Amino acid sequence: MTEFSLIMGSDHAGFELKTKIIKYLKAKGITAYDAGTYSTDSCDYPVIAQNVSQRVANKEFEKAILICGTGIGMSIAANKIKGIRAAVVSDTCSAKMSRKHNNANVLCLGARIVGEELAKDIVDIWLNASFEAGRHEKRIEMIEN
Ligand code: RB5
Repeated sequence: MTEFSLIMGSDHAGFELKTKIIKYLKAKGITAYDAGTYSTDSCDYPVIAQNVSQRVANKEFEKAILICGTGIGMSIAANKIKGIRAAVVSDTCSAKMSRKHNNANVLCLGARIVGEELAKDIVDIWLNASFEAGRHEKRIEMIEN
């Protein structure tokens, strides 16, 4: 484990929102590791998604937040990695349920879909909600196997 429990990544479309979320979390005492991209220059989201997701799957980090234009490309790529449960979220209820029932370990946001304030609310709720386990445990195992 590193000193960080949260890793964040984005492509060019998500760069500005990623920067704002990192700053927002830092002000709350949460330091997220920034895995790039580091500018608005065009780049390929699958590269970022694979790097970030692999590091979560390897247990280097507990959770990740990935941001692209819609969150969709990041989630499709992230879910290719065994052990990753990535959820694209654009409302606060789904943010909560993706943790409670699905034990999502990657949150995907669309910078062109959600505004900054909603994104911050989603991140807060997602980071603070816990997996309920119980009847959901078996279903997560089914996905894993
Ligand atoms: C980049 O233009 C855009 O396609 C990407 O950020 C993402 O939305 C893909 O799902």
